[in-house]
Amino acid sequence: MEQQKRICVLGAGIVGMTTAFMLKEKHAEWDVTIIADKFEQDTLSDVAAGIFRPSTSFKGPSPEITKQWLVDAYHHYKKIQNSIKTVEAGVQEVSGYVFSSKFPEVTKNQFLEDLLPVYRPANALELQICPGNWKYGAFFTTLVIESRYHLPWLRKKFEMIGGKIVKRTIPINSFNDVDDYDLVINCTGFGAKKLCLDHDLVPIRGQVFKVKAPWVKMFFYGDYDTYIIPGIDFVTLGGCRQFDSFKEEVDKYDSASIWERCTELLPNLKNAEVTREVAGLRPHRIPVRVEKDIVTTSSGKHLNIVHHYGHGGYGVTTAPGTAKYAVQLAEEVLSGTKSKPLSKL
Ligand SMILES: Cc1cc2nc3c(=O)[nH]c(=O)nc-3n(C[C@H](O)[C@H](O)[C@H](O)COP(=O)(O)OP(=O)(O)OC[C@H]3O[C@@H](n4cnc5c(N)ncnc54)[C@H](O)[C@@H]3O)c2cc1C
Ligand SMILES: *[C@@H]1O[C@H](CO)[C@@H](O)[C@H](O)[C@H]1NC(C)=O
Repeated sequence: MEQQKRICVLGAGIVGMTTAFMLKEKHAEWDVTIIADKFEQDTLSDVAAGIFRPSTSFKGPSPEITKQWLVDAYHHYKKIQNSIKTVEAGVQEVSGYVFSSKFPEVTKNQFLEDLLPVYRPANALELQICPGNWKYGAFFTTLVIESRYHLPWLRKKFEMIGGKIVKRTIPINSFNDVDDYDLVINCTGFGAKKLCLDHDLVPIRGQVFKVKAPWVKMFFYGDYDTYIIPGIDFVTLGGCRQFDSFKEEVDKYDSASIWERCTELLPNLKNAEVTREVAGLRPHRIPVRVEKDIVTTSSGKHLNIVHHYGHGGYGVTTAPGTAKYAVQLAEEVLSGTKSKPLSKL
């Protein structure tokens, strides 16, 4: 009989929850524990609108792997969305427009054009749907994955098949707390910012309103990071992308700017009731890190790690794809494929 493996998934955002569930579902005999200090509504994943829309600059270790991640992620969510039993999973199909008054390149997305059922240029009439001088546009149909539904759904499924969950803070760069596991999968997102040894990991700050506006049925993007994305209970209004900004609080100047840009794009939003405003730091890294590593703990033990973080503004979009890849790396590590220590701490 195969020896039981003990695996710790660090992090309970969309990346950690998806990874832990996939691992346990595929290897029922393995002991999988999630350790995290924040869950569900306290995670960055809860801030996201959750639209499946990778940037054209989204990058994994190679173009082939990047494409595979996106294909796998889309089909994973699409399968959930197609299943009648899983309304509570928070995955919905939504259509909408991207408009620009200046930049034709916003109408292009090499990933989405290949993947989505509908992706086409907007015609002249469509460019007049929203007030403004829109010259370029695209219409497409994609998915919105709402963490507020999806994370509790994943958690329930994970626990049902015997997955364990522990609430605890792991001191950054001290691995003695987790050194009795055969493998640690590091899905900490931007949690480790202060003492983080990975200088390629940079925050891209974002801020959004969550409003009640059930009449909004389509998404709209305008220039300068303006977006309106309907979810199940709320519509997300954004936004901003501030590179290397660490401010975690809501900024009143950003609030004013977001509100003005969104209500100009869709004037009937002026009547929407604001339920909350949130800011968050997107864990940006090029490429996203999904990689094996071995660290030496302060007690001298070698610890197997699979890093799985740095999804930037696209963690909800890509989590199932990168998680599938991380699970493959975990299998390689645990099947005893030898690799050399890569870094020392
Ligand atoms: C305004 C905004 C809008 C966005 N919209 C979208 C969108 O529409 N589509 C999309 O795909 N993406 C979007 N994103 C990006 C998305 O939110 C992130 O890519 C995603 O949430 C990253 O997930 P994660 O699991 O890596 O991180 P997180 O959700 O931050 O989870 C990290 C987990 O690690 C745990 N952790 C970290 N350090 C420790 C520690 N030392 N000890 C214990 N636990 C620890 C935390 O407790 C938490 O559970 C948006 C982001 C922002 C800010
Ligand atoms: C996880 O990754 C972060 C970078 O986000 C790093 O600082 C931390 O040391 C890593 N933790 C483990 C257990 O490898």
